[in-house]
Formats: sequence, structure tokens, C-alpha cells
Amino acid sequence: MLVDRFGRPVTGIRVSVTERCNLRCFYCHREGSSPATRELTVEQIERILQVAKGLGITKVKITGGEPLLRNDILGIVKAAATSGMDDVSMTTNGTKLAGIASQLADAGLNRINISLDTLDPIKYKQITGAPMLDAVLRGIKAAVESGLRPVKINMVVLRGVNENEIDRMIDFVRGTGTILQLIELVDFLPTGADYARYHHDLRDIEEALREKADRVIVREDMHARPKYFVDGAEIEIVRPMHNSRFCAHCRRIRLTPDGKLKPCLLRDDNLVDLSDALSGSTQKMVESFLRAIYYREPYFK
Ligand code: 5AD
Ligand code: SF4
Repeated sequence: MLVDRFGRPVTGIRVSVTERCNLRCFYCHREGSSPATRELTVEQIERILQVAKGLGITKVKITGGEPLLRNDILGIVKAAATSGMDDVSMTTNGTKLAGIASQLADAGLNRINISLDTLDPIKYKQITGAPMLDAVLRGIKAAVESGLRPVKINMVVLRGVNENEIDRMIDFVRGTGTILQLIELVDFLPTGADYARYHHDLRDIEEALREKADRVIVREDMHARPKYFVDGAEIEIVRPMHNSRFCAHCRRIRLTPDGKLKPCLLRDDNLVDLSDALSGSTQKMVESFLRAIYYREPYFK
């Protein structure tokens, strides 16, 4: 198993397959990346994942932008599954999921995270810029019916917008057999939207859940994120990573759509470009991976 200089094992890779997205969520941090560039081919992604697997990485998360905008997304999922990864997951906005969920499951996708901040169609349009709530709800249903497990619903809590919908959302996940992830807004708004206006510190919600919960579990490999069980509903809280505990538990490396290994989510100054290695030997790829792992260091120590 790969371990970085800070003793953190590296067991996962987050593969962003495109920067394109069909929604325009006003708070979107777009992972801090620049406008659309070249995108790796399925074959290139497959090669990179095979090398990752050879180095002991066993989990892959496919993200974007919106990954379902790639018309070869089934090929990408298949490549991930056949490279021997034992956990293949995806984060999607769900707008294009209904028609492809079962094929994704057949291709080897295990689980899926779907962004959904509101159950109100008018608010949905205000947040994302598109009237696509129904499509997302159909996508969630299709994901559950296709046997993807777990199906997690990502809800970014926005002050004055959807904070009053948390109980309704808890009922929704209970009813659909999904899991709710309440996400605290991260200050990362190149769009110029006002962070202070929308930020809601989730500490109070976390405390309320702890009181209401029948059971709480904490898993180290999930960034030590607690899970709360409330009357049959499962809820997780994702607070900002502005703490050393978060970094201490970080076990993943990232791959950008144009083929650069990114050792830390919060830094853009230590990327390792795989383009040369991709046209060279496997040994070259391994060396590039090891360099990226060497560059890993906790952002918050
Ligand atoms: N703060 C918190 N979460 C965000 N996401 C996008 N932008 C932000 C932000 N500024 C979330 C989306 C999606 C996931 C990919 O990232 O809601 O669920
Ligand atoms: Fe950003 Fe995701 Fe919304 Fe697209 S769906 S705009 S990537 S938060």
C-alpha cells in the first residue's frame, strides 16, 4: 500500500472526467479549475487506473463537472471496474441519470452521489439555473431501482434558501432508501456570489441531529465523518475541510480531466502532468504517481 510522507495511506483516486456542466449552481466552486480543456480518452483513463491499482489504490470516484455529459461515460465506468478497483462510485447532478442508471450499474458502478439541494421546483431553478427537478427525481428513482448502493443525496445547505427544507429532505431519503449528506457551503465562489449571505454553519444542525439520533457511528476512512440514524433515515454532515483532522484523514489523490495528478484539493501548484508518461512506459507512469504521492502534504497540519 502507498503511504505518503505524513503516514497517510493513499487508497482512493478521484477522477474528474470533464469540466463541462449543464447546470450553473450559483455557489459552485467548480473545483477551482480553469475552463474546459482537453479530456482524457477512455483508454488513457484505463491505463492510469491500472497503474493506480498496481500501487494499491482500490477506490475510484468519477466526478466532473458533470460526468454524465461524456458520451463515453459507460466506457469509463467499465474501464474503472475492469482495472480491478473494488469500489467504483460517481458524483452527478442527476439530470441525465434516469436513462442510463441501469447501464451504469451493469458497467460496474457500485454507488452514486446525486446533488439535490431542494424539493421545490422553483427553488431548484433559482439555484441551478435549469428547470430540471423532475429529471433529477426520476434519476434518483432509477439509481435505487438499478441496485446502486448506497445512493446518497448531496444537499448544500444555503442560508435563506433551503435551510428550512432539511426535515423534508430527511423524510425524502427515508422514503426513497437513500442517504442524506448535508454539506456546509465552502467559501470558493469565483462567481462573486456572497458567501457570508448564504453560509450556514452546520454545527447547530449537527448538535440537533446528535440529540435526535438513535445511533451515531464514526468511520476513520470516511474522513472521520459521523453518520446519524434518525428514525430509519441515515444522515451525514460534511463540514468544511478547514481543519487538520480532515487533512489527517485524507486518503485520496485526484486526476484532472486533462491528465494531471493533483496531490491536494486545495492546491494548484504541485500538479503532476501525466501526458509524457501516457505515451511512455508503465515504469514512467509509476514514477509520476510516486512523485505526486511524494508531494502530498496536509494543507492544515
Ligand atoms: N460548497 C459546498 N459544496 C459545493 N458543491 C459545489 N460547490 C460547493 C460549495 N461552494 C458540491 C455540490 C455537489 C458536489 C460535487 O460539490 O453540491 O454535490
Ligand atoms: Fe457545479 Fe455540480 Fe451544480 Fe454543475 S451541478 S454547477 S458542477 S455544483
